[in-house]
Amino acid sequence: MSATQSSNSYRDTYRKSITAPEDFWLDAAAGLEWDTFPGTAVDDSAAPLYRWFPDGKLNITHNALDRHVAAGRGDQTALIYDSAVTEDSRTYTYTQLLDEVSRAAGALKTLGVSSGDRVLIYMPMIPQAVIAMLACARLGAVHSVVFGGFAAREIAARIDDAAPDTVLTATGGIEPTRRIEYLPKVAEALQRAHHRVRDVVVVHREGFETSAAEAAEQTEATWHDWASLTTQAGPSDAVSVAATHPLYVLYTSGTTGKPKGVVRDQGGTAVALHWSMRAIFDVGPGQTLLTASDVGWVVGHSYIVYAPLLAGATSVLYEGKPIGTPDAGAFWRMVQQHGISSLFTAPTALRAIRKADPEASKVAEYDISSLKYLFSAGERLDPETQRWIGEALQVPVIDNWWQTETGWPIAANPVGIEQLPVKAGSATLPMVGYDIAVLDPLGEPLPAGQEGNIAIKLPLPPGTLYSLWGDDARYVESYLSAFEGYYATGDSGYVDQHGYIFVMGRTDDVINVSGHRLSTGEIEAAVAEHPAVAECAVIGLADELKGQRPAGFLVLKSGATITEDQLRQELVAHVRSSIGPVADFKEVAVVPALPKTRSGKILRKTMRQIADGKDYTVPSTIEDAGVIEDLLPVLRRNL
Ligand code: COA
Ligand code: AMP
Repeated sequence: MSATQSSNSYRDTYRKSITAPEDFWLDAAAGLEWDTFPGTAVDDSAAPLYRWFPDGKLNITHNALDRHVAAGRGDQTALIYDSAVTEDSRTYTYTQLLDEVSRAAGALKTLGVSSGDRVLIYMPMIPQAVIAMLACARLGAVHSVVFGGFAAREIAARIDDAAPDTVLTATGGIEPTRRIEYLPKVAEALQRAHHRVRDVVVVHREGFETSAAEAAEQTEATWHDWASLTTQAGPSDAVSVAATHPLYVLYTSGTTGKPKGVVRDQGGTAVALHWSMRAIFDVGPGQTLLTASDVGWVVGHSYIVYAPLLAGATSVLYEGKPIGTPDAGAFWRMVQQHGISSLFTAPTALRAIRKADPEASKVAEYDISSLKYLFSAGERLDPETQRWIGEALQVPVIDNWWQTETGWPIAANPVGIEQLPVKAGSATLPMVGYDIAVLDPLGEPLPAGQEGNIAIKLPLPPGTLYSLWGDDARYVESYLSAFEGYYATGDSGYVDQHGYIFVMGRTDDVINVSGHRLSTGEIEAAVAEHPAVAECAVIGLADELKGQRPAGFLVLKSGATITEDQLRQELVAHVRSSIGPVADFKEVAVVPALPKTRSGKILRKTMRQIADGKDYTVPSTIEDAGVIEDLLPVLRRNL
């Protein structure tokens, strides 16, 4: 435990991080091994852009792997692969994982990948996904992982933005009801992208129709087999990079159709995740963490891959679902089998388990005595779900609030330092380095209890985004210009008189469907491509299971003769093939007109309020109030 964590009071620790951030973070940095220990904590010379540990040098994988082996813990388990869909299971000690990662890094080197190069990873939840990410970081190459539920067009958009020379993929992923062929999607993405990818490396999994040779024929790239490439390659040592060197780009939905390439550095990420693993999640060497997410999301990057390994703990990589693979006892089976002490999932998964097993009878089938905490993030943990699962498991259920942009919790209950009283509906208190304010639209702080825009005073702590990939201007415009001196989270909420944070929802057009972050703007752009659609609005409707679900309201072009049912089928298929099944777009309603302000802005918020059965406000700037009246029956139909 580093000196920073030795205080047993959350308030002292937090206060120090805000009043003496330099000391706090240099102290936290001392918990890692550096090639050059940083003399300075933060460089503010280009404010509002900040860089952490500007003169430090290290490699994050040295700290996640080599450091533990050198300390004599090479035989400890680093990674447990548990696949409920193939019933395959594999364990890697730190020595074995280091060997795999070093050889994968050596293989990438033979393809010409070097420090600063981007590598796109499109893989299911298999060990090679983790190995690929770490192999990139070992060379100082910048990985960009794309979630398997995204379609070819989304992969192509990321290829064009990040410009990788290399793509690492697999023959396919396995969903409970079907197999997802990856290679046709990769080949199509390569064809669609303007940027030319040089090499594609394929992990061969049995049971998929399209071979690498068939896919290769459709592209100009050279295709390789992962197994032979990594077997032939010699190991590669960790390359020492500047702490400010980019570790990865992870694309996330914004308000526009163009995803944002969140970029994080090696040093800040290593320091923050190492600190958070113990202090927030109470996970350290010898303990086992199951983060039931996907490596394609930020939760997977941070708490399946980097943080548990930085902490010298054991991480479970679970390929499966919370229910249906085979049943609602999947998590509890793993708790028993792997001796899991901390389990991290999303509220939607807990609601799915509750629906399938309302009496939580599956819990009693397993010995879950190793479990100390259940952590939940990705969307607001509703009090009823929190109560239900807490009673079923008899462990504290800890909500924590964060975003792809921050990389680790902004607010949480730091059980590794001090377990604070839980308040239902609250993500508890701000974490170290996050100086939070709730602001009105003019940027004035609001008093306790009043809802407004949640903002974070700059600089953000280490491990958060330092920019958007190749686009500082968009970073400043999207996050730093609404409230001077603050990062705007895009979330709305309030702080109570004890400082507890209640996050209530987004202030923008981002929606959260089953813990997946989606842009209604992006879905609208896909819907608008249909030849019969004149204009459309996609809004997120409240959903008991998924949190939100997208629904499209469309105005047809005059003369269009298509039936609503036919249009729905075509649009659902189109959104699936252009964004991916993860968009979960299934509801469509044809309406005579959309409500707009006089300047032409669609009143999505008013539509959402009506559809969710809430009190609704109609702005005085509405162009034609009659449009709302006409829409009421259609919007209420969705209740
Ligand atoms: N590859 C391909 N398709 C995928 C996919 C992947 N990796 N992940 C999901 N999909 C597909 C699903 O098969 C589904 O397709 P369908 O419309 O044909 O049924 C669609 O995308 C929507 O998926 P999802 O909303 O996830 O529904 P689901 O029924 O598969 O699973 C849950 C429901 C609750 C189990 C699941 O959403 C879940 O575990 N969510 C938690 C998310 C999470 O961990 N987020 C990270 C924050 S912690
Ligand atoms: P993502 O970038 O996919 O992690 O999504 C981030 C968004 O999810 C946040 O901006 C919030 O709107 C929402 N979110 C995540 N965790 C929580 C939480 N614990 N409580 C409320 N909202 C959350």
